[in-house]
Amino acid sequence: MEQEKIKNLITLFEDFLQQNLLKAESFHPYYEKALNEMLLAGGKRFRPALVLAVAEAIDKKRVEAALYPALAIEMSHTYSLIHDDLPDMDNADFRRSHPTLHKTYGATAAILVGDALNTESFAAIARSPLAPEKIAKLARILAENAGANGMVLGQTLDCYFENQRLNLEQVEFIHRHKTGKLIAAALEMGAVAAGANDDLAQKLYDIGLRLGLLFQIRDDILDFQPNMEEQLGKPSNQDVNKNSFVTLLGEKEARERMRKTRIEIEARIASETPPSLAKNLTAIADHFF
Ligand code: IPE
Ligand code: IPE
Ligand code: MG
Ligand code: MG
Ligand code: MG
Repeated sequence: MEQEKIKNLITLFEDFLQQNLLKAESFHPYYEKALNEMLLAGGKRFRPALVLAVAEAIDKKRVEAALYPALAIEMSHTYSLIHDDLPDMDNADFRRSHPTLHKTYGATAAILVGDALNTESFAAIARSPLAPEKIAKLARILAENAGANGMVLGQTLDCYFENQRLNLEQVEFIHRHKTGKLIAAALEMGAVAAGANDDLAQKLYDIGLRLGLLFQIRDDILDFQPNMEEQLGKPSNQDVNKNSFVTLLGEKEARERMRKTRIEIEARIASETPPSLAKNLTAIADHFF
């Protein structure tokens, strides 16, 4: 039943996305199409599902309003993927089972579409029918976790230290920033949109950081597997020169870390969140992992 709920929340999000596609009329031959292409290409919608599952558990009436921050975080995440795939970053040819934007339209268009999605994510938050203080808080959370000390910092370190071996603490730092912070922000934004108290919002944020680490360890392990392109919708074996959990620890030890991290997260969800929230978060874990 909880699984069904998560699926329904994702469907709700997909419908909302369809109704809120970016419009940009001009005499450019494909700019408007390119703006929406990666958003529409699919993806698991993990981050919006987190926002909505948290909001639903705290106050069902706020799910509609939470769709705006859910869209914002998916836009921000999608921009990060478009830039991550660029030739000067990870140089990947396909994403979400589609050619990457730079493959279809060139790097200039891909950079600019990423810029637009990043900016428009804040407009999506601003349009939500929430109190102005909440809107300001949501914008701050997104900016702090995606920006200079968030995802961008993680991506900067990840790319800068390619071909240089880092230690485990440093790799965890990278993973926490490039992936963990947006996932933590998703949980916190769901809490803020639904009117949770600061204590619960903070607990969710901290759980989100661990969940993000789990997510990236799993991504690193999947990258190491042969012939995963079709299933993942993106190239694998991309991390040979990167500091990933697998390149650092080997696959066996990375799997052990993943297992332990998952147990730790489950325990924290059970002890630190109210039962309705614990149920939704467990359902999310079952749906996505
Ligand atoms: C990919 O994120 C980038 C990482 C942080 C590992 P996802 O695995 O959530 O990608 P989509 O959204 O499903 O395409
Ligand atoms: C990227 O990590 C995380 C982002 C902030 C986009 P990866 O480079 O491992 O993501 P994938 O494997 O290309 O999806
Ligand atoms: Mg990368
Ligand atoms: Mg990549
Ligand atoms: Mg990866």
